[in-house]
Amino acid sequence: MSKTLIALAFAGGIAAGGASWWLAAPSPELPQRSAAELMDVVMWNKEPIGGPFALIDHTGKPRTDADFRGKFLLVYFGFSYCSDVCPTDLQAIATAVDKLGPSGDLVQPLLITVDPEKDTPEQLKGYVGLFHPRLIGLTGDEKQIRGVANAYKVYFAKTDPGKWADPSIDHFGFVFLMDAAGKYVGFFPPGTPPDRMADVIRPLVEAAHPL
Ligand code: NI
Repeated sequence: MSKTLIALAFAGGIAAGGASWWLAAPSPELPQRSAAELMDVVMWNKEPIGGPFALIDHTGKPRTDADFRGKFLLVYFGFSYCSDVCPTDLQAIATAVDKLGPSGDLVQPLLITVDPEKDTPEQLKGYVGLFHPRLIGLTGDEKQIRGVANAYKVYFAKTDPGKWADPSIDHFGFVFLMDAAGKYVGFFPPGTPPDRMADVIRPLVEAAHPL
């Protein structure tokens, strides 16, 4: 019997016992490729990066990629309980946006959570405000988050709780730059200084939107 059949049989048996369990069941996770394979794709530009998404922002409002047309996007995948690189990278993004001055208004920074279980809109609201007033936090269900991560070729996975004191989430820390038409421009590796980000973004934004 395949794993899928076993899962269906199991789910069917439980669901018969209570409809509420069925409604509360998490959506099945989409598959993910290995970190090494995804790293290759991003580093060597082997496949398209980005794509459509439909998520919920930190105010509870539905948002799609199309809502941001006309603005450059800085897209970062992370989570609010991250004590590793997320705070540093988000601070760098925020500083870069401010350093751009008026051009910065044409750049929308986005944090897409890789921890949708804990990162509710309310949780994200408190978190994004720590970095920049215009940083938008996005969350969704597990399938939506895996879908957008797969589109951006972003690896994320829970760490083994037996190996570390607290289970956490490993994730890529690339900052993806998308243009005003929603097309992928390139990425900044984790640890890129804000000055460098601003220097790269400024001429692109000025060429697209002469001030
Ligand atoms: Ni992180």
